[in-house]
Amino acid sequence: MNIIPNFSLKKHNTFGIEAKAKKFVAVHSVSELKTILQENKNEQKFILGGGSNMLLTQDIDALVIHVNLKGKKIVKQDDDFVWVESQAGENWHEFVLWTINKDFGGLENMSLIPGNVGTTPVQNIGAYGTEIKDTFVSCEAMHIATQEMKTFTNTECNFGYRESVFKQEIKDQFIITSVVFKLTKHNHKINISYGDIQLELAKKNIEIPGLIAISNAVIAIRQSKLPDPKELGNSGSFFKNPILLKSEFESIHKKFPEMKFYEISETEVKVPAGWLIEQAGFKGKRFGDAGIHKNQALVLVNYGNATGQEILNVSKDIQKTVFETFGIHIEAEVNVI
Ligand code: EPU
Repeated sequence: MNIIPNFSLKKHNTFGIEAKAKKFVAVHSVSELKTILQENKNEQKFILGGGSNMLLTQDIDALVIHVNLKGKKIVKQDDDFVWVESQAGENWHEFVLWTINKDFGGLENMSLIPGNVGTTPVQNIGAYGTEIKDTFVSCEAMHIATQEMKTFTNTECNFGYRESVFKQEIKDQFIITSVVFKLTKHNHKINISYGDIQLELAKKNIEIPGLIAISNAVIAIRQSKLPDPKELGNSGSFFKNPILLKSEFESIHKKFPEMKFYEISETEVKVPAGWLIEQAGFKGKRFGDAGIHKNQALVLVNYGNATGQEILNVSKDIQKTVFETFGIHIEAEVNVI
């Protein structure tokens, strides 16, 4: 393993921000990971996966460990289900396509989400009515301090909307090395409840969609709304959709009857942050090289040479204006470093 000093992270974060790691190492196996942790016990460490959910606002004064473990396989199956395991460093979308091509159902709605498999449990990624918690069985993770391996079951991950135990109680304590999903072999539970998916399928006259058709519909929708990080630096949704108590929402809704919302429980309502940001006048705006995407106001973009601090400043302006306009606080979804 080659530890590289003063390493540029520009190609390792989908925002394409220039920031330096004091030291950088890529690990390709659990045993390499163990060795690196043992040999650098007293060093400050920073774990990097696909770099698709972080905004770097400064250089990283630490040993950056890039988890690059590869491999995917079927670990078990019965008549109806298959258990597939992916190593943490596999690209998420390639993994999803691999399952779809085998006609294994469950991940198709999450096609084209950027990032690596190992970071998907951290924020319980989701799209179009599906979250990984719906098919996630367990993950293996290494305890950074002791290098012991631990299995986390679905329940132990304590998944919520873009939340898990890895962002809360045990933040920065474990490195996820592999993940197991339980997928269907037939009688797939397709979820085309999202209007956008139905419209996309109707365009192609598909009445009974298979996994590939759903995946293709999701890919088409995402490509029409969300910028490709290879062409325009971004980190997907920068903010979470705020969840309000119904009572709180009702008084706001009286003032803004056109506000979009989804009831998520008896007592809570989710409001699309993209709508709030658009109404606050930010959609498509550009401030130097930092901006708000023209097709999806939830996504902040780097037109080339924006610094992390510049993007952070834009995000703070948005938060402030949205709060002043609607009295609603929107929280960042990406990790600001
Ligand atoms: N909207 C606007 N203006 C905008 C963007 C959205 O008015 O600029 C409105 C839309 O008209 C729609 C509503 O907001 O009524 C919701 O928009 P959309 O269905 O596009 O989804 P979203 O709430 O903006 C969430 C996820 C996405 C995921 C989509 C589809 C979060 C923070 N984001 O976005 O996830 O792909 O739903 O399920 O929950 C990601 O996390 O990186 C991500 C892209």
